[in-house]
Amino acid sequence: MSLKQKIKNALPPGFKKAIGPMLKKRYWNKDYDQALKKFSDLFYKERLQAEQSIPSVDVEQRHIQNCKVILNRATLLSLLPKNAVCAEIGVDKGEFSEQILAATTPAKLHLIDVWGDPGRYHDGLKLQIEEKFKNQIQAKTIEINLGYSTDVLANMPDAYFDWVYLDTDHSYKTTAQELKLLNRKLKPAGIICGHDYIMGNWVGGIRYGVMEAVHEFCVKENWELIYITINKNEMPSFAIKRIVSENCKNLL
Ligand SMILES: C[S@@+](CC[C@H](N)C(=O)[O-])C[C@H]1O[C@@H](n2cnc3c(N)ncnc32)[C@H](O)[C@@H]1O
Repeated sequence: MSLKQKIKNALPPGFKKAIGPMLKKRYWNKDYDQALKKFSDLFYKERLQAEQSIPSVDVEQRHIQNCKVILNRATLLSLLPKNAVCAEIGVDKGEFSEQILAATTPAKLHLIDVWGDPGRYHDGLKLQIEEKFKNQIQAKTIEINLGYSTDVLANMPDAYFDWVYLDTDHSYKTTAQELKLLNRKLKPAGIICGHDYIMGNWVGGIRYGVMEAVHEFCVKENWELIYITINKNEMPSFAIKRIVSENCKNLL
């Protein structure tokens, strides 16, 4: 029996009938091919424009020389100061907030979220969060701050936080604005951590800008990377702190 015949016999019944029109459409229909090309050209143009709108500043050796690669964000929490004044900026359902509470026993944890953009996220989650953390809210260990990160942070005292964990919309623009504000809001030895230190979400087709915003901030404002997480099953996290010269270290 010829190879062609063997393949034909091995195919399930009805296969040719189902796949034939699909192949024809893809490979032999000129209009379809042209429409597809038009669409992918447009998609390519938009992606290129988005790419070119994100500044790309390179960090130098001094910005990474003390950086440690650690396993995951649970490890990151174990390395952050305990009994601190801290914030999770971008909270969603408060799952990571629970981990922060358990691992770092904060003196004060601010939970900052806009909780109300049903287009991309959800609505009404604030009530759930208030219920979830009612004991800690009553004890004033947790404070809920509803609003856009930049508005909420602008109203916080300067040199207030020991550390924060940034996890909002992951865009370059928002992250750069948040970092600019945090530069003032962190204590001199404060640590800025955050999620999604990665180019984007491949499945969702979303370009992030966290890496670019963090690198640019480190170079412009003299901060250094101290931790990066490596676990592939959660988006990478980063942590940065100010670069302090040897003769200023005893002032912190
Ligand atoms: C990825 S989720 C946070 C997940 C959470 N940190 C965790 O690990 O479980 C992002 C959250 O950020 C909030 N968000 C997005 N943009 C924001 C902004 N500009 N200001 C404040 N919150 C924002 C959304 O409402 C959403 O709840």
